[in-house]
Amino acid sequence: RVLAGRPRDLAGRKVVVSAGGTREAIDPVRFIGNRSSGLQGYALARTAAARGAEVTLVAANVTLPDPAGAAIVRVESTAELREAVLSASADADVVVMAAAVADFRPESRHDAKIKKTDGEPEAIRLVKNPDILAELGERRRAARTALTDGDREAGPGAVPPRVIVGFAAETHDVLANGQAKLARKGCDLLVVNQVGEGLAFGTAGNAATVLVAGGEAVEVPFGPKEDLADVVWDLVAARLP
Ligand code: CTP
Ligand code: CA
Repeated sequence: RVLAGRPRDLAGRKVVVSAGGTREAIDPVRFIGNRSSGLQGYALARTAAARGAEVTLVAANVTLPDPAGAAIVRVESTAELREAVLSASADADVVVMAAAVADFRPESRHDAKIKKTDGEPEAIRLVKNPDILAELGERRRAARTALTDGDREAGPGAVPPRVIVGFAAETHDVLANGQAKLARKGCDLLVVNQVGEGLAFGTAGNAATVLVAGGEAVEVPFGPKEDLADVVWDLVAARLP
């Protein structure tokens, strides 16, 4: 696909995109993972670079060719993704959490491979992972509250990341779940995909609704993941001070 001919409306902007899916180790050879291919995150990184942004791509277990013009940080687990995203976000204009983050991880990782025994296996106890998107939103909210009056005159855009974008894959009550999630996570945009029937995971195209904090909803018809990426960057660019 031709990437030329896009506006350079993200020139001078620092953007962080997470892509792929995190894996949580059970033992040295096994993990709990998900079906995210990284295609949508990579399309976001490619198109942002084509629009002039300085892109950091945090890639969790993605086996796609490196996108041109992005600095790549490779991670495996949610803890590693969190570290990489939070550190890259400190001075970023935009963070897009396109990665599918494991909600749970095994309470402990076995140092040696779990062997098959005569009886039934032991249960794997799961614990909750930190919510990176919610943490980004919460950190920004706290930083905005801490602004001095002088700083505050610069507006809410004075605190990085200026725009925070989340993704959500829902199987039912797509819009209602999406709206609730947008509010809960404190992000500015939430891209809601409907999962199933050849949609979302591992496919070349995507259909989605982009929910905007404050009420607007932008429908993106089924098409290449670059098209959805461009709609996201259009909405982001309009929100940058
Ligand atoms: N996300 C995150 N950290 C997590 C889980 C999710 O940063 N531990 C981010 C994802 O990258 C995505 C957004 O939050 O941008 C929504 O993810 P989703 O799985 O849809 O939301 P959850 O809050 O985990 O809710 P649920 O899975 O129960 O629908
Ligand atoms: Ca989840």
